[in-house]
Amino acid sequence: MCGIVGYVGERNSLDVLMGGLRRLEYRGYDSAGVAIVDDDGVMETAKRAGKLQVLADDLEATPLHRGGTGIGHTRWATHGGPTDRNAHPHLGDDGRLALIHNGIIENFAELKDELLAEGYAFESETDTEVAAVLLGREFRRTGELTEAFRATVSRLEGAFTLLAVHRDQPGVVVGARRNSPLVIGLGDGENFLGSDVAAFVEFTKRAVAIGQDQIVTLTADDVTVTDFAGDAVEVEPFDVAWDASAAEKGGWSSFMRKEVSEQPEAVSNTLLGRVDEGRVVIPELADFGDDELRAIRRITVIACGTAAYAGMVAKYAIEQWARVPVEVELSHEFRYRDPVLDADTLVVSISQSGETMDTLMAVKYAREMGARTISICNTQGATIPRESDAVVYTHAGPEVAVASTKAFVAQIAALYLFGLHLARVRGTLGPDELAAQLAELQAVPEKLRTVLEQIDRVGQLAHWMADTRSVLFLGRHVGYPIALEGALKLKELAYIHAEGFAAGELKHGPIALIEPGQPVFVVVPSPRGSANLHQKVVSNIQEIRARGARVIAIAEAGDAAVLPFADEVLRIPLAAPLFEPLLAVVPLQIFAMELAQAKGLDVDQPRNLAKSVTVE
Ligand code: F6R
Repeated sequence: MCGIVGYVGERNSLDVLMGGLRRLEYRGYDSAGVAIVDDDGVMETAKRAGKLQVLADDLEATPLHRGGTGIGHTRWATHGGPTDRNAHPHLGDDGRLALIHNGIIENFAELKDELLAEGYAFESETDTEVAAVLLGREFRRTGELTEAFRATVSRLEGAFTLLAVHRDQPGVVVGARRNSPLVIGLGDGENFLGSDVAAFVEFTKRAVAIGQDQIVTLTADDVTVTDFAGDAVEVEPFDVAWDASAAEKGGWSSFMRKEVSEQPEAVSNTLLGRVDEGRVVIPELADFGDDELRAIRRITVIACGTAAYAGMVAKYAIEQWARVPVEVELSHEFRYRDPVLDADTLVVSISQSGETMDTLMAVKYAREMGARTISICNTQGATIPRESDAVVYTHAGPEVAVASTKAFVAQIAALYLFGLHLARVRGTLGPDELAAQLAELQAVPEKLRTVLEQIDRVGQLAHWMADTRSVLFLGRHVGYPIALEGALKLKELAYIHAEGFAAGELKHGPIALIEPGQPVFVVVPSPRGSANLHQKVVSNIQEIRARGARVIAIAEAGDAAVLPFADEVLRIPLAAPLFEPLLAVVPLQIFAMELAQAKGLDVDQPRNLAKSVTVE
């Protein structure tokens, strides 16, 4: 949540900031602002409520002066509505200092009272302005921005990434982070800061992730990282694994459409180099010896939203293959109860962004309780992998649209690799069975291409249904999390009431919702899997059809049993039952996207949402 960019160098910093903010806009898009300082210490700021384009139009009409030092921000409102006044940057030291912030300062009310009592005035309702005023006060005392930061962060509670410039120190940007992301981009005679590497990957692929409770002082030629106490910190640069073009729309009408279409590559890149002669090879798990993996008594998966549904899918596979109990829990629930965790519990977190605050806190909690942790993550240098014992990266490439699509299938692919690795180590699958499952997994990208060929047909269906006010989704076994994911996609993109149910649960209540014309998507299990399950779901279809539901079935090619009862059938290629979710989810993603577009909505930036949920 909230995108942050900083720059020091020879370029006009405004161009760098606006380019970076455009790439980070998915993190929040209710207001945006910049502050620029030139070599003579002249500082100018501009900020506007609304999407970044509103600010861009303003800046075109009233350009700022040229300056080589700057900070920029795109906001997802927490304290105070999305207004010009609440937009960042906020000022301190009588307008000589500008500050931007991502996160929540939990003790802001108490600090504000203290500052009000000292005679300071505030213009906004934000927690951020409190940090700006406090930093201004400390600057007056210390006369130096990094020192002032050190004094300021010691007073703050909660989560924050802060960046600031001061007109008395042109050519310097100082940043600090606690529980919110901040990455440095190392250039030649210029340096960058960003909430993630997308902010600067156009200019440099050499990056450094700033650790917890650290302060960075950035000039054009130097980067100094210290901890909050002022002690120097060794940094470990890494190379960003993708090009700037991967985060461009590149001719597609939306990022979401592009990312839906990239799903075959998201899966194949996640498998790349990790399968060798019928065996899974995951070098990133080298620290987890075979004895340790054999000793695991339980796996707890923690994640939120779509990532949690990937975990639910993987539960079926890992339990079946590795014969170890798997529970899946929403990160925000996990942390606030008293879960039973010990050294025999492996905690697997799943997060596309690697920054989701709820998941991050749950991982930290799990480690404190003595559990070992593995992170499944799509973002290099993100915080959750760094807080975990090991990370298995999904290689889906940058996901820019707020709704997760390609990351979801890549997460399932990575979890399946892990499940098969566990099964080999624990001896629960023999070599032939392992090879057969791996072959199924490797066949997924090609099958995804076949599913994607139906995009126009699903689009037509969505356009016919553009006035629908409620849609239900049913699934069973691995189809159940897919029903939940289909409903989530429709809610977040098309703002339509949608609910996913386990088909077996229907008669325990939800069937009361069925009335004539009610659209219901049903994920139908393969008749080649458990015939019983297939039959049961076909019976469920008949039951809702008898009550007037309009049934859209997602069924494998050649399954004729659904034809007499379904109003529409969307086909997926034949796959072993555990691999069907990777295919069945695609028509549901496309349906939600097309329906949202039919309603004239922005599918990349749905209302009220942001991609990276870095506040609890
Ligand atoms: C839905 C969606 C969210 C995320 C959730 C977790 O389309 O994108 O539900 O899946 O916020 O985000 P990550 O995976 O970044 O932890």
